[in-house]
Amino acid sequence: MIKQDDPLWYKDAVFYEVYVRAFHDSNADGHGDLPGLTAKLDYIQNLGFDCIWLLPIYPSPLKDDGYDIADYYNIHPDYGTLEDFEILTKEAHQRGIRIIADLVLNHTSNQHPWFQSARKSRSSKYRDYYVWSDTNRKYKDARIIFIDTETSNWTWDDTAGQYYWHRFYSSQPDLNFNNPAVQEEMFNVMKFWLDLGIDGFRVDAVPYLFEREGTICENLPETHDYLKRLRKFIDTNYPGRVLLCEANQWPEDVRPYFGDGDEFHIGFHFPIMPRIFMAIRKSDISDVKNIMARTPEIPSNCQWCTFLRNHDELTLEMVTEEERQWMWQEYAPESRMRLNLGIRRRLAPLLDGDQRKIELANSILFSLIGTPIIYYGDEIGMGDNIWLEDRAGVRTPMQWENSPDVGFSHADPKKFYLPVINDPIFGYEHINVKDQQNCPSSLLNQIKKMIAVHKAYRAFGRGDFSWVDVDNDAIAAYYRTYQDEKILVIQNLSATSQAIAFPLDTIHQPIDILNQKKLHLTNKPPFSLNLAGYEYLWLKI
Ligand code: NOJ
Repeated sequence: MIKQDDPLWYKDAVFYEVYVRAFHDSNADGHGDLPGLTAKLDYIQNLGFDCIWLLPIYPSPLKDDGYDIADYYNIHPDYGTLEDFEILTKEAHQRGIRIIADLVLNHTSNQHPWFQSARKSRSSKYRDYYVWSDTNRKYKDARIIFIDTETSNWTWDDTAGQYYWHRFYSSQPDLNFNNPAVQEEMFNVMKFWLDLGIDGFRVDAVPYLFEREGTICENLPETHDYLKRLRKFIDTNYPGRVLLCEANQWPEDVRPYFGDGDEFHIGFHFPIMPRIFMAIRKSDISDVKNIMARTPEIPSNCQWCTFLRNHDELTLEMVTEEERQWMWQEYAPESRMRLNLGIRRRLAPLLDGDQRKIELANSILFSLIGTPIIYYGDEIGMGDNIWLEDRAGVRTPMQWENSPDVGFSHADPKKFYLPVINDPIFGYEHINVKDQQNCPSSLLNQIKKMIAVHKAYRAFGRGDFSWVDVDNDAIAAYYRTYQDEKILVIQNLSATSQAIAFPLDTIHQPIDILNQKKLHLTNKPPFSLNLAGYEYLWLKI
């Protein structure tokens, strides 16, 4: 394990989300694997990432890319072995990088031996591991999440002679958390991976663990009670390891998942994300301001986790109907770009491949609040392929270099698990790691700089946040302050240059900490500042 010198390490960290299948293939079978990822740890370390979140790595029929687990105690054969996982963890720790992975509590695959046994006999000890019913009329107030594919949260199983409950695909039956045996089983799962050296879990789909009639079956008190037990288990036996909460909810509904600092360490802040896209498109920061105002305080040992994109569709669950229609119209004009209540596109295409806008979005991400996560490939501005099924279009092979195999694999590219992005704008000839490493002004190098500066000042991860009023909605300006650190962030959300009265009457020359130089201001008050289109400044006062 990494030396636990600071139990709050996750507050200052920058996370990297890795889809192992997409990252690097070590055995030329066309699928990325754990040894492939291990071979690329130097890249991840060099960028400054502190923690890698692995998408599910467990045996699975892959009906939901591994979120349908068939065995909690092993590695998917495409990815390697448990030994490969131990090597990855050891090598990562030697580089000061932590590893967390998905813990999927809510459901298993229908291929899981528990479900297979459960459906075959009412007397199976696993029958009660799942939620069965003779009717499909229970829990009617629970919404359907995968609205493009599912018409009900109940599916009839002929062999079982009953309906079973599922919040996601019908191939993902929900586990029955009313059953103490299920609750205990998940402690065993956690213990297994923690003993192998994992640094924590991104806990999947937490709002849905329990069902209760007359409720929407989300965020129930029983769920919080159980999660608090998981946390206690970690704190008692594995201090320093963390739990990251995936609850796609409004901030006031995520707040209880931090408890009194005794539930999750970190929680995704979903609603900020679409509002960053709104702000850039409208050249108006108001929507971000509104959601920040709606974001409650959290206990001092807890942290928000922010992101621009991830492996799913850009979710539009946490916006109003009107905002959703607007986002679709602006960012997903073609129907293939839409999926469920979201948009299946990557960051760079969403922002027109315009490096100024992509950097600006990242500047907001890295300076606003919380711990940022970057989705693999977004650091180089990878593109997407909306013609692939489900969310596959944002899960294509990492573009390491300008060659038909993109440096991802020695297999024939025809055998790759998915085709590489090969369009005229985002294809590997234009977008790849190697070229960007060699270009000082590349997106990759700008992101690397933001990561380094974010980590150099605790104000970003731990500091207080306050808006600065510059009387111009196209300007996002705020202070981040921590002890004697005071950082002023000023960002121009519009394409045109903006002159603002510099919001300080100080005679001290602020330092532009991203570029390590003094800011040039007029020499007499009132100071004014000219920001170029999409320019962003992080200033140390
Ligand atoms: C959330 C995950 O991010 C998503 O990819 C998955 O489909 C669902 N949970 C179900 O596990």
